[in-house]
Amino acid sequence: MACRHAPLSPLADQLARSYNRCSLRPGWTQSSFPSVETSAATSAYPTRWNCYQINEPGPSLSAAERDRLISAVASNLGATNWLVCAGSLPTGVRDDWYGELVELGRRHGVQVAVDTSGEPMTQSLHARPDVVKPNVHELAELTGAMPSTLGEVIEAANEVRHRGARTVLASLGADGAVLVDADGALWGHAPVTGVVSTVGAGDAMLAGYLSCRHGRAQALATALQWGAAAVQHEGTLFSPSDSGVEVTVTESVDTSRPLQDRDRPSTQKRCRLSIGLTRMTGNQHTLRSTGRIRS
Ligand SMILES: Nc1ncnc2c1ncn2[C@@H]1O[C@H](COP(=O)(O)OP(=O)(O)O)[C@@H](O)[C@H]1O
Ligand SMILES: [Mg+2]
Repeated sequence: MACRHAPLSPLADQLARSYNRCSLRPGWTQSSFPSVETSAATSAYPTRWNCYQINEPGPSLSAAERDRLISAVASNLGATNWLVCAGSLPTGVRDDWYGELVELGRRHGVQVAVDTSGEPMTQSLHARPDVVKPNVHELAELTGAMPSTLGEVIEAANEVRHRGARTVLASLGADGAVLVDADGALWGHAPVTGVVSTVGAGDAMLAGYLSCRHGRAQALATALQWGAAAVQHEGTLFSPSDSGVEVTVTESVDTSRPLQDRDRPSTQKRCRLSIGLTRMTGNQHTLRSTGRIRS
């Protein structure tokens, strides 16, 4: 067994030690997993039969720590193009905190992207972030309805724009991504055969989008290329290199095209092993540490 991404979190470490005492196989269940102490906010789910993502709550931040964090961000905004607010918020931090960071970015002339879910995402909209990157489940959370076609994604993205986001980059798993801004909607996709792991695909695609300064279509294409590169590898891969897939981006969106990957379970529903069910309504952005346990 090899454990990578050291140092592992305490839970990942426990899982790794437990692994020595049991055999993980496809379809294994919580009951087959021995004595793992967990907290209510921890979830773990298989992303492939031998690859697991473990989501744990972050530490609670005190008021003084929050202030220090804000000061640290502010003092680093000078040479910055983008401030990315991604992930769930630690306990002790109010749901409108990303909104505060959006305003901080604006005061410094720095664009801000928000990639989170639930209330922190909803509340960030009031501060008018430059980009938000919901996946299809997060988009449904924002609007209250799960889109079933590209047209419905565009409608939902426009609603999110009206509520404050300047650009919505909606990632749709295997269905690609839709970019909606003041110039209208673009859809692109980059079909991948042989997906290895989707862990961090959204993070990679947002990084690809932000890395590109050659216009919206090229930025979407780059996002899709980075997303495709990520899903072809275990773990998250941030790579500008050619992923070897064909990327298509179009303004002539077939709005009736059904979403094929829409019913993929969201992160929390994907949990076959669920440790701490009370926070299973959380999502992948509760990620604070990732342990991968490989045979
Ligand atoms: N099964 C897949 N096939 C091809 N590309 C994928 C697949 N899953 C994810 N991607 C790529 O990764 C991007 C982000 O994935 P998605 O699952 O929508 O985001 P998140 O990781 O935030 O939930 C997608 O827009 C797509 O470019
Ligand atoms: Mg995501």
